[in-house]
Amino acid sequence: MKKGKSNSSRRKFIKNSSLAVGSFFIVPSHIVAKGHIRPSDQLNLAAIGAGGKGTSDIRNAWNNGKNKVVALCDIDKQRCSRSIGAFPEAKFYSDFRVMLEEMKDDIDAVTISAPDHVHGVAAMVAMELGIHVYVQKPLTHNIYEARQLTLAAREHKIVSQMGNQGASNPSQQLMADWFNEGKIGSVHTVHVWTNRPVWPQGIPVPTEKVDLPAHISAQEWDLFIGPAEPVDYHPLYHPFKWRGWWNFGTGALGDMGCHLIDTPFRVLGLGYPTEVECSVGQVFTRDWMPEYIPEGCPPSSSVQIKFEATDKNPSTLKFHWTDGGIRPFHPDLIPADDDLGENGSGNGVIMIGEKGIITCGTYGSNPKIYFNNGDQMTMPDDYVVDRPYLNLPERGHQASWAEACKAGFNSPEHRQLTSSFDYSGPLTETVLMGNLAIRSYSEGAIGENGRRQFNGRKKLLWDGESMKITNYDEANRYVSRNYREGWQLI
Ligand SMILES: NC(=O)c1ccc[n+]([C@@H]2O[C@H](COP(=O)([O-])OP(=O)(O)OC[C@H]3O[C@@H](n4cnc5c(N)ncnc54)[C@H](O)[C@@H]3O)[C@@H](O)[C@H]2O)c1
Repeated sequence: MKKGKSNSSRRKFIKNSSLAVGSFFIVPSHIVAKGHIRPSDQLNLAAIGAGGKGTSDIRNAWNNGKNKVVALCDIDKQRCSRSIGAFPEAKFYSDFRVMLEEMKDDIDAVTISAPDHVHGVAAMVAMELGIHVYVQKPLTHNIYEARQLTLAAREHKIVSQMGNQGASNPSQQLMADWFNEGKIGSVHTVHVWTNRPVWPQGIPVPTEKVDLPAHISAQEWDLFIGPAEPVDYHPLYHPFKWRGWWNFGTGALGDMGCHLIDTPFRVLGLGYPTEVECSVGQVFTRDWMPEYIPEGCPPSSSVQIKFEATDKNPSTLKFHWTDGGIRPFHPDLIPADDDLGENGSGNGVIMIGEKGIITCGTYGSNPKIYFNNGDQMTMPDDYVVDRPYLNLPERGHQASWAEACKAGFNSPEHRQLTSSFDYSGPLTETVLMGNLAIRSYSEGAIGENGRRQFNGRKKLLWDGESMKITNYDEANRYVSRNYREGWQLI
C-alpha cells in the first residue's frame, strides 16, 4: 500500500481554509442562496464501519447535507443497509485499506465505527494519508495503539475526535467549574461503575461450526478479522457480540469506561496512573472448578487504579471501577433512597472530596453535588457553555468535529473539540490499563503440583511514560498485541 500524504490541492484547501478566510473565496458568501452550501465548504466524508453505531456517526457528521458522504466501507452490507440507503451515491468498499488508497484524494475525513480491534490500524492508515479521523470509543484496542495514534495525530496535523459523545455535554464543563471553584475540595476517592456487559461475556469459546450468513463472503469475514487472530465465523462474534472477546473487544470496561471515566479524568485533570489491581468474577459449571477462559472478558470485574496528585487535584487518588452489575454502596452523604449516578443506578460516577461529593450518570447526565453540610446542588437551568452545535444530535459531537476539519489543525474550532486525541489518547490508555490488569489476572498455567497458578494476581506498578509494568514483566504482553500479517500498525 502506498503511504505518505497526498498533495491533493482540494485537501490542502480544506486543511488550510482557516488561513484562507478573508483572502480567498470561491463564491462570495453574500451571493450564496440561504441553505445552499458552496461545494468548497463541504467536507468529503467516508465511514469505516457504516452499520451499528456507524449509522449515526456518519449521519451526524454529514449534518443534514452540510457535508458530503463520498464512500462507505463495511464487511456486512445488511448491517449497514441504512447508511447505504441514506447515501446511495457513496462508493461502497469492504476493505478500508483499498478505499483509503483509491480515494485518498477525495476523502477529507473519515468516521471509524468498526469493532474496537480495527480502530487503531484503520485510523493510522487514514492519518498517514492526511485524512482527519473520528474514532469510536475506546480509541483503540490496546495501550500502545492509543499512544501511537495520539502522537500520529500531532505529527500529521490531523483533526481528531474520539466518539465519547458525553464529552460534549455541557454538564462536564459544569462539573469541572464546580471542582475548580473548590466546591468539594480535593478529591481522594472516585467510584465509577456500569451495568455492562449486556451481551454474552464470560462464556466458553464457541466450538461448533456455523456457516457464514449468505450475505457475508469468506473474504468479508477475513476483513472482519483484520489485525486479529483468525477464527471461524460465529454469531457470538458478529455483529455486536465481539465486545466480550479479547481478540476483538475490550469488555465492559472498554465499552463504557471511555464514557464514564471521562468525567473524573477531565474534571480532576488526571494523567497516567501509577498502580492497578483487580479481581474478576468467576463462572462455575462444575463444583469447585472455575471455568478458565482467557479468550473471553470476565462476567464482572473490580479494578482499583491509583493516581498521583495533579496540578488540579492536590491529593493522591484511589479510583474504583466495577462492572457486571456490581456497584458501589451509598456514601454516608448520599441519602439512602437516592439513586446513585443515573436514574436506576445502573451506571455512574461518584467523586468524593474533602467538602462534598460530585456525582453524575452516563454521558455526564444528572450532575449533582452533595455537600458535607447536607445541602445539595444540581445543574442550574440557565447554565450555558459557549459552543455551537449543541442542539444537534449527540450535542454536535460529530458535527463539531466535521466543522473543525474544515477550519484546520489547531484552529479555534479544533481546540474547542472536547475529545481530540491529545485528551482521549491518555484517557483510553487509563481505561485499557484496567484491562491489562484483568487479562493478567485471568492468565494461568498448570504448575508442578498440577494446579493452575495465577502469577499475575498482584498489584501492578505502572511506568506511564515508558508504557511498562515494572514488577511483573509477563503483563507487558498486554500493552500491545500480535498483528496479523498485512494488518500491522504502520
Ligand atoms: N459512542 C457510543 O455511544 C457507542 C455506542 C455503540 C457502539 N460504540 C462503538 O462503536 C463501535 C462499533 O460498535 P457497534 O455496537 O456499532 O458494533 P456492530 O457490530 O453493531 O457494528 C460494527 C459495524 O462495523 C462493521 N465492521 C466490522 N468489521 C469491519 C471492518 N473490518 N471494516 C469495516 N467495517 C467493519 C460491521 O459490519 C458493522 O456494520 C465500537 O467501537 C463501539 O465501542 C459507541
